[in-house]
Amino acid sequence: MRPTSPPRTYRVKSFGCQMNVYDGERMAELLGEQGITAAIEGEAADLVVLNTCHIREKAVEKVYSDIGRLRRPDGTSPLIAVAGCVAQAEGKEIMRRAPAVSMVVGPQAYHRLPGMIAKAVEGRRAVDVDMPVQTKFDALPARRKVGPSAFLTVQEGCDKFCTYCVVPYTRGAEVSRSFNDLVAEARRLVEAGAREITLLGQNVNAWRDADGRGLEKLVEVLATIHGLARIRYTTSHPNDMTDGLIAAHRDIPQLMPFLHLPVQAGNDRVLKAMNRSHTADGYLRVLDRVRATRPDIALSGDFIVGFPGETEAEFKDTLRLVEQVGYAQCFSFKYSPRPGTPAATMDDQIPREVMAERLQRLQEALGVSQYAFNQASVGQRCTVLVERTGRDPGQWLGKSPWLQSVHFSGDVAIGDLVEVELTAAGPISLSARLLEPVKS
Ligand code: 5AD
Ligand code: SF4
Repeated sequence: MRPTSPPRTYRVKSFGCQMNVYDGERMAELLGEQGITAAIEGEAADLVVLNTCHIREKAVEKVYSDIGRLRRPDGTSPLIAVAGCVAQAEGKEIMRRAPAVSMVVGPQAYHRLPGMIAKAVEGRRAVDVDMPVQTKFDALPARRKVGPSAFLTVQEGCDKFCTYCVVPYTRGAEVSRSFNDLVAEARRLVEAGAREITLLGQNVNAWRDADGRGLEKLVEVLATIHGLARIRYTTSHPNDMTDGLIAAHRDIPQLMPFLHLPVQAGNDRVLKAMNRSHTADGYLRVLDRVRATRPDIALSGDFIVGFPGETEAEFKDTLRLVEQVGYAQCFSFKYSPRPGTPAATMDDQIPREVMAERLQRLQEALGVSQYAFNQASVGQRCTVLVERTGRDPGQWLGKSPWLQSVHFSGDVAIGDLVEVELTAAGPISLSARLLEPVKS
């Protein structure tokens, strides 16, 4: 049975990437504006939004099992909205298979949730998978309260069509938000408490406004916002790494020395089959340009092992590339066939055991690389943005400019930017000694 009175409390559960986290926050703000409040931790909510991810493995099955779990012991359910990329991909099918769901709303249409909720309480179920990106951003309420590190979506969608990836289908074509809108939203984020902003996009470095200005121009203007200490961006494509953006890493102190630049594989035949439109060497040459401009930059990437047809020798090219680059951190995944993508129907799908074994070897190599990067940082003085309390009393956790997790003790508060000396390195974090707070 579905509820018939307007919801008073909500819970938004976001899965997947940072853009989904951003969307989840914006949906929460939108619901807040309707007078619906966040459900208290541990208590049932009247309205649950499942903000889903479709990028890998069993995404669809997971959504159905999450829906099943929302059913209460008396057989009733909260109002349920399925949002995000699975909503976009599955649309009506979710309505058919899951009668408990009242609303299915795609990533470009969630600004219409209030109207859908009003209908839903009258028993009218609705699917909205339109893609009017600009209208969505215009319709969302202003940002009010955020943590010290905030996300800002500047670009959505993808025109690259890598053969393994669902994003061009779930998020649509590349759309850049306008310069003025972004500067205004960034200002509001800073007023709402942000000291660091991470610019988000599926191809963030392809951001370009109607006047042809690229991401480095946006960064340049954001860097003038008083109180904004740090700017980051993710995720980028090697072919869109312009000289201007690379130079910004040298010229704009607020732009952090960190670059997430996925390569996916180290072998040219595999890269071609993936339709990456760059070679391994082309990627390495981009990194050479970046390092020549900003020698201390921390590099990060994404990898897929077991793409259809990948041989042991081709996989070893990936391991070689990892050794060559010296990554500070990385994400790595087993290839997962996505319905509707060209790679899903390619010959020579790789057995699961082979993928698992390759992933383990790759992750070992990446772990070695990350540990070495952390060890090389010991002795450095740097700033840390304090993000939360640590496990032990008096301990704080924050991020270094190179996006390493750093813990230390001292008299500070969340949101402070402090100067530390990095004193010891672990495989995934560092400890530090507090030197002094940084004036801003
Ligand atoms: N299988 C496995 N990993 C994938 N990614 C994207 N599509 C797939 C897929 N079908 C990974 C890529 C991408 C990251 C966001 O997710 O590495 O960069
Ligand atoms: Fe998941 Fe990709 Fe969609 Fe993000 S863009 S929610 S990672 S499918």
